[in-house]
Amino acid sequence: MAELSDRLHKKMNEQIQEEIFSAYLYYSMSAWFETKNLPGFGHWMRCQAMEEMMHAHRFYNHMHERRRAVELLEIKKPEYKWGSPLEIYQAAFEHELHITGKIHDLVKIANEENDYTAEVGLLQWFVNEQIEEEESTDAVVQKLNMIGEDKTGLYQLDKELGMRVVVVPPLFKW
Ligand SMILES: [Fe+2]
Ligand SMILES: [Fe+2]
Repeated sequence: MAELSDRLHKKMNEQIQEEIFSAYLYYSMSAWFETKNLPGFGHWMRCQAMEEMMHAHRFYNHMHERRRAVELLEIKKPEYKWGSPLEIYQAAFEHELHITGKIHDLVKIANEENDYTAEVGLLQWFVNEQIEEEESTDAVVQKLNMIGEDKTGLYQLDKELGMRVVVVPPLFKW
């Protein structure tokens, strides 16, 4: 196993910051939904936040397994005001596009450095995960567009999103 370079080490610290910020943002979105009497949407967003913490933890583990210390960076205050559920899910989708870009940057660097341990062992999982992240947020955008101003539809969607469960993969190392 090659040594984890300083450049990749720095980028991974920054990615942990990105993932924990994502959790923070989704908690903030969850809180907004709770105040709007949409507890299913709120629940979905908290599940999303939990998943983001697991993402941060994958980088955390990888770095420590390679004997490099994690340096936690500052987490900024997330947005907390939105105009509608649609606006929130559009923002969540945009945020996931941003994260996909960050993951692809990491792949590029790992590839340049011939760090297959990072590229294949860690980052390949994230490339696939981001497909799912974009898809799952966009799916709700599409449903909200379909519902439009229909309150019954919104009520039904809230129930549906309230069924989400967080799946911890069997080999996930806490
Ligand atoms: Fe993530
Ligand atoms: Fe995400």
